[in-house]
Formats: sequence, C-alpha cells, structure tokens
Amino acid sequence: MKTLLISNIADLIAYQKNLQETLEKDTRIGLVPTMGALHAGHLSLVRTSKQQNTITIVSIFVNPTQFGPNEDFKQYPRDLQKDLSLCEETGVDVVFAPQVATMYPQRDTICLNPPKNMGYVYEGFVREGHFNGVLAIVLKLFNLIKPHRAYFGQKDAQQLLIIKRLVQEFFLPIEIIACPTQRDTDGLALSSRNIYLSSEERKNARKIPQALQTIAKAIEMGETKSAPLLQMGKKALEGIECEYLAICDYELAPLENIQKNASLVLLAAKIGKTRLIDNLWV
Ligand code: PAF
Repeated sequence: MKTLLISNIADLIAYQKNLQETLEKDTRIGLVPTMGALHAGHLSLVRTSKQQNTITIVSIFVNPTQFGPNEDFKQYPRDLQKDLSLCEETGVDVVFAPQVATMYPQRDTICLNPPKNMGYVYEGFVREGHFNGVLAIVLKLFNLIKPHRAYFGQKDAQQLLIIKRLVQEFFLPIEIIACPTQRDTDGLALSSRNIYLSSEERKNARKIPQALQTIAKAIEMGETKSAPLLQMGKKALEGIECEYLAICDYELAPLENIQKNASLVLLAAKIGKTRLIDNLWV
C-alpha cells in the first residue's frame, strides 16, 4: 500500500475533508506522533493503531520547541526517505511531515505550561521548557489531525502522563493509548538516540535496564519501601552518571512505599554525551 505523504496544512485539510465525505461513520483515525528516525518501538505503536483504527496517520516532525539550547536538535537523526519506506512496509495510510515554519508560523507564540507538580520535575527539571514544547506540538497535531486515538510509548512516562492531563483538562475527544516499551536483545529500551552510543558506551548503557530489573525483582520478592529499592538500583548503576532514579506516583509525587498499579520507577542517565531515560511501571 502506498503511504500518502502530506507536508502542508492545506493538503491535510483537503485530505480530511475527503475522508469525511467518503468514509463510513464508524471510521476511526489513529495518530502516532513521532520525531522520525523510526525504529521498532514506533512501528509497534503503528501496528497497535492499525489494529484499532481504520486509518493510521504518523506525524514526523523534529519539534524545535522541546529541545533546550544545548540539546541535540541539530544532530537529531533525520531520514525521511527511510522513515517513509518503513511506514509503507507497515501499512501507514498517511505521513504528515511538516516544516518548522508550518507548525510555528509566529515567532512570539502562546505557551502552554504543564502542571507545576508534573512538568518541572525529572525530565522537566533537567530539560527546562521541554514539556511546554511537547504540549504545544501535541495540541497542534491533535487539532490538525483530529484523531480518535493517539499512541504514545510508556518509555516516555512523564510525557505520557502530562499528555493524558492535557486531554483531560482541555476536554479533547481523544483516547490516549499507552504502549509498552520495546527493548533490544540486550534489554536497552529502543530510542532514536541509541545510535549516538559507541560500542563501549552501549555496553555501559545496559546497566540502565539491569538496574530496573533489579528493582522489579526485589518488588516481586515483596520489597515495598522505596529507599532500599532505590539503593539497589543505584548500586546497579555504579560506573555511569545517573541523573535521577526515583519512585513516584502517576502525578510524579515521590512515594515512600510502592503502590501496585500506581507507581513508577523513573531513571535518567548519561552515557558519555548521550542522555537516556527508562522506567518501570509497577
Ligand atoms: O515522543 C516524541 O517523539 C515527541 O516528544 C512527540 C510526542 C512526537 C512530540 O514531539
């Protein structure tokens, strides 16, 4: 099946109009928002969307507003042709890949702030302004594409929870579907940034999933207190630069004790120059 590539808003609106006129009432649109450099993690979101919807749209846009001034916006991997082939192989109906000027026509823009307790801790603390940028682009994509369902990976746990809040607070008629983290054979969570790792760094990066597995096993054995769990995790991370390792609830408030089906273990570490995040949904 040929994937339709749309890169401007007029074409997207024309496509939408045509959809409304030609498709049945129970047509469902699934959106997989991405920044491209697609990997098996993104493709698993696409597959889930295809199972649940009539039409699957993938957006590919490296969103400048979610990168800090010293972050990797310029180096972020971009390969639209490769992404398009992967989308075609996976049966994506439409790829929406706009230019920056299309998504941000004004220089001085309205800014959406995440909730204070959710948006300025962990990723929001280390990456100032990150979630303002994520909220802006996700709301723009939702308004343009009008999906019934949107698919996000559990790997970006804080992003997922903040987007759920966006949908809830702004009464958006969109179902947010959380999809499990996809991992490589060595346990490392799939991420477009893994390509920055040298083979030596890649070996060190394994400590990230190993630390989470250590914590998961201890929880399975009955440990519920955060302090010893975090201590075990930190020990497993020795030798790499851990930015944060924390246990919190779904509003990102720290927890002294694990609560089943309501807790998260969040981890961010730097391997050389590469920041990686991972987590455990308990
Ligand atoms: O998770 C990502 O790839 C991005 O943060 C998203 C949701 C596509 C917004 O730019």
